[in-house]
Amino acid sequence: MAIANVKSEVYLDLDTEKRHSADVTCQPETDSTDVYGLMTADGNPAILQTAMQFQQIMLLYEGAVQQVKNKLDILSKEFHITNNRNPIDSIRYRIKEPMSIAEKLSRKGMDVTLENMVTKLNDIAGIRVVCPFISDVYAVADMMTMQDDIRLVEKKDYVENPKENGYRSLHLVLEVMVFLSDRKQPVRVEVQIRTIAMNFWASLEHQLRYKSSSEISESISEDLKECAEIIALTDKRMQRIKEQIDEVD
Ligand code: GTP
Ligand code: MG
Repeated sequence: MAIANVKSEVYLDLDTEKRHSADVTCQPETDSTDVYGLMTADGNPAILQTAMQFQQIMLLYEGAVQQVKNKLDILSKEFHITNNRNPIDSIRYRIKEPMSIAEKLSRKGMDVTLENMVTKLNDIAGIRVVCPFISDVYAVADMMTMQDDIRLVEKKDYVENPKENGYRSLHLVLEVMVFLSDRKQPVRVEVQIRTIAMNFWASLEHQLRYKSSSEISESISEDLKECAEIIALTDKRMQRIKEQIDEVD
């Protein structure tokens, strides 16, 4: 299985690192003794260089996720002041764990390399925004994509076009510039925007799917989908009620 390969690769790296640090303290190796090809030109173990690059890359993702979160916080506060109502109920964010990154690349049939991680994955940095109403989902998406230091890379509207299993959410991949001491780097962040109702379904469905050790049966999938449809109808009904109240005000 692909994931088994990833794990053994990681274990191999740790092994070689240990072997190396022992070697380095006894006698510095030259290129000619570097039979495993583990040293860089400056005589450092290659794994250290990879680890440092990995840390630097993760720092970029942290910077990017903080920037996007800051922007959302500002919008949320501004709205609260001007409209006395908040289109954002909650914001959560996460940076993908190294093992999840390796697992995802492997699952997609790609080599576990830093280059693939940076160029092929859009969700190493992820933010989830939960909004009260459906109209808020689109309002927040528009407010974000309008900002001229944000580039919209991808938009998947699973609210208009739900997934086969009933999943609903608006997914954006945004790119922001992160400034380091000597360069700037565009970095992508996946933003999932959904209503409280959509989040209710997605959270429970995720929990049920991960709790189950085997594939969930077709009848349970159908049941879950039906729940998603009922929840979506209620979401739309709440939206209409909001519009009626807004008209009166
Ligand atoms: P992956 O990122 O590999 O999943 O492929 P993709 O980029 O085509 O995925 P997509 O944009 O459809 O979904 C990305 C994320 O949305 C997932 O990592 C989940 O957080 C969430 N998501 C997508 N589908 C489902 C679903 O059916 N149920 C739940 N609970 N979450 C989902
Ligand atoms: Mg994705």
